[in-house]
Amino acid sequence: MAFESKIKTIEWTDNISRMIDQRILPYEFKTVDVKTADEMYTAIKDMIVRGAPAIGIAGAHGVSLAAIELSKKINEKSVFLNELQKKAEYLKSSRPTAVNLMWGVDKQMKLARSISGSISDIAESLKENGIKLENEDIEINKKMGDFGAEVVPKGAAILTHCNAGALATVGYGTALGVIRSAYAKDPTIKVFADETRPRQQGARLTTWELTQDGIPTTLITDGMCSYFMSKGMIDMVVVGADRIAANGDTANKIGTFTVAIAAKYHNIPFYIAAPLSTIDISIQSGKEIPIEERSHEEVTHINGDWICAKDVNIINPGFDVTPNELITGIITEKGILKPDFKTSIFNAFKNN
Ligand code: MRU
Repeated sequence: MAFESKIKTIEWTDNISRMIDQRILPYEFKTVDVKTADEMYTAIKDMIVRGAPAIGIAGAHGVSLAAIELSKKINEKSVFLNELQKKAEYLKSSRPTAVNLMWGVDKQMKLARSISGSISDIAESLKENGIKLENEDIEINKKMGDFGAEVVPKGAAILTHCNAGALATVGYGTALGVIRSAYAKDPTIKVFADETRPRQQGARLTTWELTQDGIPTTLITDGMCSYFMSKGMIDMVVVGADRIAANGDTANKIGTFTVAIAAKYHNIPFYIAAPLSTIDISIQSGKEIPIEERSHEEVTHINGDWICAKDVNIINPGFDVTPNELITGIITEKGILKPDFKTSIFNAFKNN
């Protein structure tokens, strides 16, 4: 049975948002019930839920939770909408880089403002829409998987970075969705998963997901990619994205840019797999993408233990931006966008 059919990464059920606790995988499998918008802010910030599409859905659920809370204490619709907007802004401030978070929250707020009925009608519509977005996410990933599988060579060894899998979405995954679809057609493909320091999403989450599906996976550390590329052991790279600018520049987990440079040097195709909700057409280039600076403890500690001198300086950006000229194609639910990305992205949105 495919991994995605067993459990959703995030799911609305009985007026709560239930999510897999990704902080403790692969050691323990537990779910967390998020009951308020403030709890959702913390769940996103602390990375109980992480990965761009998954936090987009978390943001949408967060607005539904806020609407339920506010509907119990506010009778005046304009006051309710104002307070809901404040909660929406708070949710959006939980993490800055993945634009899917802003997309999910803004989609809900647009809906809330469009409803002519009562406050409880608004709360009900937001709940329904959150569930709809949740289900659409899986369908979108499967479409991306189908498009992406077409460019995977027979028997390919595919390198991926971070976790752009079922755990980073509601289910199936973006980059790992492409790998799942390719594997369904050709069980001779295999995966190289970068460990992804400092939080080790590749080691902890990607290997956990892929081995459950029986997809042959080799874990490597981040510095090893050029070595394996130079040995002819990697045929293509597929990674996810947190925000793509209108010119195709792509923010993804720190270390992605290095992989893209190595792929270019070795003449290996480098693909991004991401839904249109990850593309921010309001910004012209990657220079405008805000990069999250994360806790220094992620670098100084592993599993709670110090791994370096205590007075060393630390900088910990969570993401980097891969310039569009290093990208072979962007796999979306509308097909594979090719350079020049300014034009192909514009056309994808024109018909959306
Ligand atoms: O900090 P994270 O774990 O939320 O970062 C996740 C990534 O960078 C993923 O590659 C990206 O969100 C794409 S997920 C389909």
